[in-house]
Amino acid sequence: MSSQAVRLVVLVSGSGTNLQALLDAVADETYGAQIVAVGADRGDIEGLARAERAGVPTFVERLADHPTREEWDGRLAARIAEYRPDLVVCAGFMKILGAPTLEAFPVLNTHPALLPSFPGAHGVRDALSYGVRVTGCTVMLADAGVDTGPIIAQEAVPVLDGDDEPTLHERIKTVERHLLVDTVGRMAREGWTVTGRIVRFGRPGG
Ligand code: GRF
Repeated sequence: MSSQAVRLVVLVSGSGTNLQALLDAVADETYGAQIVAVGADRGDIEGLARAERAGVPTFVERLADHPTREEWDGRLAARIAEYRPDLVVCAGFMKILGAPTLEAFPVLNTHPALLPSFPGAHGVRDALSYGVRVTGCTVMLADAGVDTGPIIAQEAVPVLDGDDEPTLHERIKTVERHLLVDTVGRMAREGWTVTGRIVRFGRPGG
């Protein structure tokens, strides 16, 4: 693996299919990134098992193991920092990151709805019950809010008659995995700039 490859720490809370898509992508050297660690806020999840199978180091920091949220925030940032990432990727990580992580690293997040519609933990359910005919997924830079950071990429997914939350989420995730892999790869290879809320690929002045 090239020592130039951008170093990713990926954070997960669940099944880790987005992580798997990234693990598959980084197997190709031309992708431009490597996964140096996978972190989670809970143990015993398929996302961690996927990392272990791929031979990637893992760590777990549970909120409940810390007396305050601030201590958890600080400890999580320290665990991430051990791996010197260039970019942190939240791939289905179900916690809001605190200032210690957000101020130390650029953080990417993915969400299963077309932001700014339907932020939060139930983006798929909320879109369905609102009755939209088109929803989708968003890859964004994380900030201190709930799914409020600058948007990098989005893709639409139609809502079909008869969809329920699992069927719609599965179709969104198929698109989301491609969008995440494509976006992380472009950021790694091309760099990016942020002007206000506008994110562009490419290096400053490039
Ligand atoms: C994704 O849809 C992500 O956007 C959402 O939870 C799902 C995670 O799926 N927050 P997986 O764990 O990557 O399979």
